Amino acid sequence: MSSNIAIGPYAIGNPVILAPMAGVTDRPFRQLCRQLGAGLVVSEMVTADTRLWNSRKSRFRLDHSGEKAPISVQIAGGDPEMMAAAARENVRRGAQIIDINMGCPAKKVCKKAAGSALLRDERLVADILQAVVQSVSVPVTLKIRTGWCPETRNGVTIARMAEDIGISALAVHGRTRACGYHGQAEFDTIADIVSRVKIPVFANGDITGPARARQVLDYTGAAAVMIGRAAQGRPWIFREIAHYLATGERLPEPSLEEVRDILLAHLGELHRFYGEVMGVRIARKHVGWYLKTLANSESFRKTFLQLDSAEAQHASVQTWFERRINRGAQAA
Ligand SMILES: Cc1cc2nc3c(=O)[nH]c(=O)nc-3n(C[C@H](O)[C@H](O)[C@H](O)COP(=O)(O)O)c2cc1C
Repeated sequence: MSSNIAIGPYAIGNPVILAPMAGVTDRPFRQLCRQLGAGLVVSEMVTADTRLWNSRKSRFRLDHSGEKAPISVQIAGGDPEMMAAAARENVRRGAQIIDINMGCPAKKVCKKAAGSALLRDERLVADILQAVVQSVSVPVTLKIRTGWCPETRNGVTIARMAEDIGISALAVHGRTRACGYHGQAEFDTIADIVSRVKIPVFANGDITGPARARQVLDYTGAAAVMIGRAAQGRPWIFREIAHYLATGERLPEPSLEEVRDILLAHLGELHRFYGEVMGVRIARKHVGWYLKTLANSESFRKTFLQLDSAEAQHASVQTWFERRINRGAQAA
């Protein structure tokens, strides 16, 4: 299956997209996912309140240097004027697509009537979309949940409104805001949305591998799948899904040698991007996710969490994998 998705002037090669995840999809992780087959990656959200952009966290989030086009930056906020200003400023700093967050249920976001909390107020949704679309010349995309709560699943209304206003593509997480992350994502509302709009729709929620991605695309008719948590510690999931969608064949799991190389390169990028102190801290989370995918790694994970220098982190990963690889070679 080759993708013919376009977002404005940008053709999206593979119909497998990395979901924005605050605290996860930083520049090193986005670049890695692109290298390993993601057709599009979306930044972590940045607040629409530009007065907060001087914080260290925002500075890292606003850094897109060296990223491959199209650079898609997500903004979150509940005030149309502020969202428009934030979109303009992000474009000035290199964003080629602006993505609007109306899909995140995090308390920090919802408390300020932003993220998925906005879905309750359709008038405000329209005002925000209009303000942002009018403020920039780049394509604007939108990420939503299926509605505010199961009783008011207004995803179709919001999707049609978004299309009319000029939104270029829509990502839909198959849960309502009230559902949090409980239960299973549902795809009926997504299928309904796909049948009612012409813009590309990306289906999101609980997609963990190639077969599930195929099923979801067949069931919903969506243009692409969007992958969040299943990519944590498994960035090669993008090539696995893209290959399966294109050929119907499964790629073999990456070898231990390849996982080691990917992890070491990722580690190096985190240390370089954030500097040693912050990089070491952030690496613990990512390495923990990689190790979760490998059997009998629990005691190493505990050891790794104690390490406090880039060099020690690098050396320990190297040694742990060497031992495993040698053990495997002896057993063969
Ligand atoms: C740690 C974490 C951070 C997230 N941050 C964002 C965010 O910044 N913006 C957003 O629109 N969604 C955010 N999400 C939601 C994801 O983009 C995605 O919709 C959700 O995880 C469901 O997809 P999945 O089942 O493939 O993980 C976040 C999810 C997680 C787990």
